[in-house]
Amino acid sequence: MSSVDYGEKFYSWLDERVGISGLIKVAEKKEVPVHKQSMWYYMGGIAMVLLAIQGLTGILLMVYYVPEISSAHSSVLFINTQIDFGWFVRSLHSWAANILIFILFVHMFSAYFMKAYRKPREITWFSGMALLVICFAFGFTGYLLPWDEIAFFATKIGLDIAAKTPFIGATLADMLRGGSEIGQGTISRFFLIHVILLPIALVAVAGIHLLLVQLHGMSEPESFKKAKKKKYEKFVPDFLVKDFMVWLFFFNIVAAVVALFPWGLGPEADPFAPAPAGIKPEWYFLAMFQFLKLLPPHIGPFEGEILGLMFFGVLALILLVAPIVDTGKNKFISKCFDIYGILFTIGFLGFTVWGILD
Ligand code: HEM
Repeated sequence: MSSVDYGEKFYSWLDERVGISGLIKVAEKKEVPVHKQSMWYYMGGIAMVLLAIQGLTGILLMVYYVPEISSAHSSVLFINTQIDFGWFVRSLHSWAANILIFILFVHMFSAYFMKAYRKPREITWFSGMALLVICFAFGFTGYLLPWDEIAFFATKIGLDIAAKTPFIGATLADMLRGGSEIGQGTISRFFLIHVILLPIALVAVAGIHLLLVQLHGMSEPESFKKAKKKKYEKFVPDFLVKDFMVWLFFFNIVAAVVALFPWGLGPEADPFAPAPAGIKPEWYFLAMFQFLKLLPPHIGPFEGEILGLMFFGVLALILLVAPIVDTGKNKFISKCFDIYGILFTIGFLGFTVWGILD
């Protein structure tokens, strides 16, 4: 009696319908350049893992979280104190969100300094920028949900600043607030944006980003292109095994931070109380916040904060248009973008540290 290999049968059944062998062939062909800056190739993968953690923990938090001003704070307190491992899931969600944004900065600047945005990766860069904005929006909307004192007043400051953005700011802030004051309308809107709109946008844009990464393969820095002997390694299994090791290392770091420094919960927000002293936004908005604090109320005929916001707009725009302006044909422009990147990084780090210590 001949034995039937059910595994193989199932594989060929699936292959005929989904075409896995084609995908495996593509994966087998993929190669990654090996050079001194190869470590930066791991950043996007780490971001992917952190996003997966966010999705999973977010779904678990939604089981008990109540998006109502009368119960939001107590529901988070309940998760923290009454649900098995609730504190861990919440702490993981909050820590991983912050670590994700940090990794995204590293990913963006490593791609920037390696000039990975140049042809044919312009759309990879634009979609990456969109992902960064989406992740900022996740951070901003998520911060309010526990409805504690800091969340309330930091959101109030954030929306008041956003309202100053020329042309669209006031309308946008009113729409987000659901009126002139932060209240039930705000929490409903922030919840909806955080758990429905942003995840849909994220999946769509991340899908484009990852597809383009597969299409173009990893970029090669100039020094590597000029090298006489070029070394490549197979993505499967060589790079992928290292990817897994980096992810495992990261899991351990995140788990240690989460367990050793559980995410706190402040007293419930009281919209009628005065803002406590020293309210600050999340660290990734601190550089902007600190810079705006320095500006006088008026600069010439303009409001200081409006000019400050326009200045940030220009700084971000320069990053956005890098692939269009710095195409690699002009050495001077290329150098200018290098210097701009260095100044931006120093400025961002400097103002962030200042904001933390202030
Ligand atoms: C949720 C956010 C993001 C995820 C999950 C993600 C994921 C990835 C992955 C897996 C790769 C391939 C491996 C690597 O180069 O690290 C990659 C490449 C790339 N990403 Fe992202 N990314 C994100 C955000 C960003 C941002 C914010 C930017 C910059 C504005 C960006 C720009 C790029 C570029 C230009 C490449 C090509 C790099 C190369 O070929 O050397 N990405 N991304």
